[in-house]
Amino acid sequence: MLEIRVLKILFVSPKDRKPHSLLQLSFCIIPNPFLNRLMNKRKILVTSALPYANGSIHLGHLVEYIQTDIWVRFQKMQEHEVHYVCADDAHGTPIMLRAEQESITPRQLIDRVWHEHKADFDGFHIGFDHYYTTDSPENQAFCEDIYRQLRARDLIAKRSVEQFYDPVKQMFLPDRYIKGECPRCHAGDQYGDSCEVCGATYSPTDLISPYSAVSGAKPERRTSNHYFFKLSDVRCETFLKNWIFESIPAQPGVALETRPRLQPEAANKMNEWLSAGLVDWDISRDAPYFGFPIPHTGGKKFFYVWLDAPVGYFGSFKNYFKQNQRTQAEIDEFLRPGGNTEMVHFIGKDILYFHALFWPAMLEFSGYRTPTQIYAHGFLTVNGQKMSKSRGTFITAESYLKQCLNPEWLRYYYAAKLNDSMEDIDLNFEDFVARVNSDLVGKYVNIASRCAGFIIKKFGGELTHNISEASRKWFNQFLFCELGEGDTFLGRHMSIANFYERREFSKAIKEIMSAADVANQYVDRMKPWVLAKDSRNDRELHEVCSVALNMFRMLTVYLKPVLPKLAMEAEQFLGLDPLTWKDANSQHRLLPEGHRINDYEHLMTRIDPKQIEMLTNANKESLAPAESQQAAQAVETMEKNSSATPAPAKAGEAGQASASTISIEDFGKIDLRVAKILDAEHVPGADKLLKLTLDIASEQRTVFAGIKSAYDPEQLKGRLTIMVANLAPRKMKFGVSEGMVLAAGDGDGPYLLSPDEGARPGMKVK
Ligand code: MSP
Ligand code: ZN
Repeated sequence: MLEIRVLKILFVSPKDRKPHSLLQLSFCIIPNPFLNRLMNKRKILVTSALPYANGSIHLGHLVEYIQTDIWVRFQKMQEHEVHYVCADDAHGTPIMLRAEQESITPRQLIDRVWHEHKADFDGFHIGFDHYYTTDSPENQAFCEDIYRQLRARDLIAKRSVEQFYDPVKQMFLPDRYIKGECPRCHAGDQYGDSCEVCGATYSPTDLISPYSAVSGAKPERRTSNHYFFKLSDVRCETFLKNWIFESIPAQPGVALETRPRLQPEAANKMNEWLSAGLVDWDISRDAPYFGFPIPHTGGKKFFYVWLDAPVGYFGSFKNYFKQNQRTQAEIDEFLRPGGNTEMVHFIGKDILYFHALFWPAMLEFSGYRTPTQIYAHGFLTVNGQKMSKSRGTFITAESYLKQCLNPEWLRYYYAAKLNDSMEDIDLNFEDFVARVNSDLVGKYVNIASRCAGFIIKKFGGELTHNISEASRKWFNQFLFCELGEGDTFLGRHMSIANFYERREFSKAIKEIMSAADVANQYVDRMKPWVLAKDSRNDRELHEVCSVALNMFRMLTVYLKPVLPKLAMEAEQFLGLDPLTWKDANSQHRLLPEGHRINDYEHLMTRIDPKQIEMLTNANKESLAPAESQQAAQAVETMEKNSSATPAPAKAGEAGQASASTISIEDFGKIDLRVAKILDAEHVPGADKLLKLTLDIASEQRTVFAGIKSAYDPEQLKGRLTIMVANLAPRKMKFGVSEGMVLAAGDGDGPYLLSPDEGARPGMKVK
């Protein structure tokens, strides 16, 4: 049997250059067996990053879990074999210390948080096949094996490292647990890596009068032996250089084109990191530490949490397969090289470094398979700004659900915004309300609510298959999208599938909504509510409502990856078995004569803007105590600073309020300039810094500024600010900083300064 379809070749794999001429081809006949071969099952292990077990899931996290879940549900609807695993990232110093604060054991803490996280994910319909923890025997066994294999290949080095040590707590202190006076502006209580007041960055050993944030004790400098993974080894470098730029061969099913392993932006980052030169990675921490002991170190050394975290993907997968009585060979098919399977990691752009450098190198040299693809997404902003506790936009998953907002609203909104890039995505509340109300309620649900009643009341709930030429035309217009003038038609189910496959969710949603528009135009034109007034129109009324409900059914297939619960309710109402992608593909797209539907109950309500107000208020309230504490700390800091002997004002440094005066000549020494921010980007490994490229007309400068907590790099690009242009360059861990930008702050902030309109880059500020 032949299935004849109109098709457009959208992608041609670069390998076979020849078919380029085929791009013009508009008609093609595909015999069924060939189609079947194309539809071979893919076997895919999919992961989302493992959330830390010391914090709540918030709307930022959900970007990732919703994105992954949509992709997974789409692949499952294609009837591929997909295993979606995740786990809590349970180890590390912060978890150990927090448990101590709460007077419970780390295991009690991670057990409680596991249940909280699981409930949040369930609430948002994140359909993990398995949700586990990194604190598991499977994970430990994998970590030890990987470590042994790397050792056997001479890829582990032992080296002595000097670090701060808390003599009271008797532990080495990670940078973020050391505070002290800023070496530049002398503000007190600054963290070990950068100053929140003046933006200076330094290493914790530069701090003046450092103290331990854990015990308050004066830390000592002590040395200890650490284990390193020799990433600088030429074998690692050679491997990574190839691996990063390798393409993934075309896959059966929808993924017909070859794909790059990393997104172009991610590959660029990798290139930068590779050309800067790889350095060995410190994979050990000294006791006391909550984690896995490194074999043969007498319980004194532990694997650093970032070593066992990605391995946790394997631990979760193995536990899941074992629970399902799967064999070792079946496990190996996914975890060892050579199996015809894919491993796809969804991550945020902040953890690309770990996933695209350390992780594949670790796997390659310990006899495991490497990731097929890494998909990095951007960060969430709310109303164009970083999520903020004081604005009430740092919203937890739990509070969203508690306030009775529908999780599918958020799933839909994220889908409508997400694409395959690493750009940040913005949750704008006004847009959120407008979009969900108009698309989901006004367009999609509306079709069913306008037609179901007539079918139930007048036709005993039965649909008709017997439709006129005019309705058939409408239905075809609904099913196929035009590709432009003189071009052919492509089944929407194909174009939507391609968009889902490539994580172009916003384009998929656009296409789906344009189909929904056709359905609504059809109903508006046919006016079933007018037809219903005269029983002589019954045949036509039956036809119109049946066709419209068939369109509704098709839209349900398309939207099902995004709206799993709503789709289930729609299936129930339509009297259907669970829909798969084949249902959109089948030749019998109209439900058969006499197909019976069930009573319609309203499928989704509109968002009331008041609900958003309540949500942000709830998040303000629940965080108020913590914030006033922060504010109190800030005030205390200021007081401490001003009572201390003021440091002599140094040219070019923005200090805290100082009692002493300076002469105008002193001030004149500072070369302040209007600067245009040409580029702003995150700095891998830096918690507080953004890397800015500034234009001051005569030249461009690179400046590392401690403003990451308050600004999204995308927002900064193109804006004007003020810089100190004659500050001596400073060599920092991440590169050389050639000046400083001015920002206000007193614990709150920082707020970047900007000149009034009319100022141009390079202008002197006096
Ligand atoms: N525990 C590590 C990941 C280990 S994976 C082997 C971690 N945890 S996290 O809880 O901080 O973040 C989990 C995921 O959520 C990361 O991929 C991170 O990028 C993502 N997001 C956290 N906050 C986010 C936003 N505000 N916006 C978008 N994604 C965010 O990192
Ligand atoms: Zn400072």
